[in-house]
Amino acid sequence: MKLQPVRGTHDLMGDDAKKHQFIVDTARSLAGHYGFSEISTPIFEFSQVFKRTLGEESDIVNKEMYTFEDRGGESITLRPEGTAPIARAFISQGLSHLTPLKLFYQGPMFRYERPQKGRQRQFHQLGVELIGVASPLADIECIAMGHTLFQELGLLNNIHLEINSIGDDDSRSRYKKILVGFLEKVRKELSEDSQRRLDTNPLRVLDSKNPKDQELISDAPQLKDHLNDISKMFYEKILESLITLGIPFQENPQLVRGLDYYCHTVFEFKTQDLGAQDAVLSGGRYDKLIAQMGGPETPGVGFAGGIERLALLLSEPPSKQTPFTLVPLGDAAEKEAMKICYQLRAQGFPVDMGYSGNLSKRMKRAHKMQSKAAMILGDDEISRGVVTWKNLQSGAQQEVKMTQLSSFLSQMMSDD
Ligand code: HAM
Repeated sequence: MKLQPVRGTHDLMGDDAKKHQFIVDTARSLAGHYGFSEISTPIFEFSQVFKRTLGEESDIVNKEMYTFEDRGGESITLRPEGTAPIARAFISQGLSHLTPLKLFYQGPMFRYERPQKGRQRQFHQLGVELIGVASPLADIECIAMGHTLFQELGLLNNIHLEINSIGDDDSRSRYKKILVGFLEKVRKELSEDSQRRLDTNPLRVLDSKNPKDQELISDAPQLKDHLNDISKMFYEKILESLITLGIPFQENPQLVRGLDYYCHTVFEFKTQDLGAQDAVLSGGRYDKLIAQMGGPETPGVGFAGGIERLALLLSEPPSKQTPFTLVPLGDAAEKEAMKICYQLRAQGFPVDMGYSGNLSKRMKRAHKMQSKAAMILGDDEISRGVVTWKNLQSGAQQEVKMTQLSSFLSQMMSDD
């Protein structure tokens, strides 16, 4: 049997790896401008971290978690998302004296979903969490950073921002009663999934992708019309600020998100280019999460973006740094080339090597690496202290003194 990767997992390499790296580098540097510092939490946690917080009735907890008992008999779960682990870290590390705490993260997440384009079982997220700020300024900062990230990735034309408020507990519990009253009247016409959700988590019925459900829901009372004054003011402030910043958005009264910890603001940057997997970067506010996990009452807001989905939207991998390739000919030259490579790389030059074979095979390697130039080194060159420099675009050749090689390379790189 030929070994295969596990369904829904991929080896990240080549152009995909380059895109991935470009996305993470761009997000990390932008997060730095926004004052976020980086955190890496473990990729597994006690299952309780996710079970209680994401919602017993959420899809993730119900059917998507990779949960297993470890050798010590503990129930462990591979993290399906990054917010609950950060809330756990906030509590277990006693970080409340550091608020406002601004954390950036990136790394693999695990969900047992049906794999398709833009949906894997191991995927990668980048995200931010802004902990300890109750003001809508924090929500705006996160949304603005999301918007700027798309701008910096050159993807503003591929996405649009959808936003909604699911209010505070008071608004939501009043609205839930009204919504259940409405949905009970059409219960039998709803899909099986929505009928189940009507009993367990009625707000999630609004999220249904089933066309018949959507038709029925389109007449449902909207949460927006049942927000209490505090929630209404909070939401209006967010919308006003988006207008002030010139960030375009669409209100989507049906946007409720699939995780239980949210309150007030929820948002998704969506695309029309990836079929059903249209959410590329999503988030919202979670003021009760940390207290619910046993920590001090601490508000929070953040987002996470799917790196594979972002990568699918990028058409070209960013142009890579093309190396100079050393092409040694003969044993003595190989030894000399090894030394030169070592020294040039330590000085910060991208240098590759034609490792074996005759001149033409070694030159092939230089072309394959899309090198700017080959530096040919044979016995004759060694005895005269030079390399033969061959520009691989123009074919032009010249000799460069070994002692002047690094300044020559610097010149070549600054000419690009
Ligand atoms: P989420 O909406 O579950 O939110 O995931 C965030 C993003 O991860 C999605 O918008 C999507 O791009 C990507 N994603 C999710 N599942 C998959 C998958 N199976 N394959 C590929 N990409 C996927 C959260 O995880 C929250 N923790 C976000 C957040 C941070 N809220 C507040 N702070």
